[in-house]
Amino acid sequence: MYKRVSGTKDILPEEAYIWQAIEETSRNIFSLYNFKEIRLPLIEDAALFNRSLGESAEIVKKQMFIIHNKEESYALRPEGTASIVRSYIENNLDKNANFTKLYYLGPMFRLERPQKGRLRQFNHIGCEVIGSYDATLDVEIISLADILLKRLSINGHTIKINSLGCLKDKVSFTDSLRKSLTEKYRGLCQDCQERLKNNPLRILDCKKDECKEIVRNLGLKDSCLCDECGAHFNRVKKGLDNLGVKYEVDPNLVRGLDYYTQTVFEITHQGLGSQDAIGAGGRYNNLVHELGGAEAGAIGFALGVERLLLVTRIKAEVNDKNLVYLVTLGDKARDEGVKIIYSLREAGIPADMDYEGRSIKGAMRKASDLKAGFALIIGDNEIEKGVVTLKNMLSGEQREIARLDLTKELIC
Ligand code: HAM
Repeated sequence: MYKRVSGTKDILPEEAYIWQAIEETSRNIFSLYNFKEIRLPLIEDAALFNRSLGESAEIVKKQMFIIHNKEESYALRPEGTASIVRSYIENNLDKNANFTKLYYLGPMFRLERPQKGRLRQFNHIGCEVIGSYDATLDVEIISLADILLKRLSINGHTIKINSLGCLKDKVSFTDSLRKSLTEKYRGLCQDCQERLKNNPLRILDCKKDECKEIVRNLGLKDSCLCDECGAHFNRVKKGLDNLGVKYEVDPNLVRGLDYYTQTVFEITHQGLGSQDAIGAGGRYNNLVHELGGAEAGAIGFALGVERLLLVTRIKAEVNDKNLVYLVTLGDKARDEGVKIIYSLREAGIPADMDYEGRSIKGAMRKASDLKAGFALIIGDNEIEKGVVTLKNMLSGEQREIARLDLTKELIC
């Protein structure tokens, strides 16, 4: 017997109802904020991610699914932001639409060690806005993530925010971090000793206790920001206060991807255990230019759908209360019944029938197991009289209805 690949998930019909509810709610909210959907390929040139996320990012170093094809390397996309920027440039949206608000839903792939809430194929619901540096946009994006979670029946989440500043600020912060952490070199874990050379910012993200302790003792503040970035961050905080969005400033929040500048945020949930990030995002003001487009401010976020599912209180019910289940006696009745349920479907009424040769009693039991709203019973007697017998499965009431009146009766 074959088994699914480790770190992947089968979404069976009962759970798929919750997925549909989550997707529908998200689409509705994004529309309220005037976002348009974008659907992009699942495979991209691997170099796109090396360039955008950074060669020293964990995702690039260890987690990409790579497909080698002749001279080329493709990657199963590990995230959506880089693909969207690639598409924004390739499709000339920078010239035609300029300010662009896009949202996306779909699978991402990372070769991680699977555990609760950490998969190798997982799904993002995310959005990206390209074409503005306005701090009010940061406020819209963070508050949108908050509203989305609330509408998805999730509470108990914490929004942590920070500002990494502009590229210059990042360089001076990295330098000062390297200086102060060099003194603590021996206390750092092996990975962080390596990070100290390549990308000291990542040390702030390390989950090992010894490194967390060292970072805590650094007593970081947002003092490495230049005047402009400091003012931008203040406007973001003020804007969130103005809307009553609750957040915590976390100076250790750096995110693991190179493209971020200025505002970054992460949303954690207490009900998730060790993989507690339910979503994350931030600004990436240099990425469009870096990938060959014009200078354009940009910001977005992505929520991990499988993690949303672990904490949402949405209980999507299998709603088949309108289903009409055909139960027939004899071949003639079956032929007539087939025509009737086809016409019901045409009128938008869900209808199904028995294909397993059940007796009338067995077919009625099936209708009940399926939680169908109605059983439509047809035998020789009904055919002769030009009627059908309709049984309301909830109340048990059963009556004859003229065939011509059936659709009207079921629609009312
Ligand atoms: P990220 O933090 O790598 O950000 O992923 C966003 C969310 O995806 C995480 O907070 C988590 O909920 C979920 N996630 C990540 N990896 C896994 C996994 N292996 N299994 C299950 N869920 C996972 C990004 O990807 C950025 N592109 C977000 C962004 C958009 N920044 C700007 N715009």
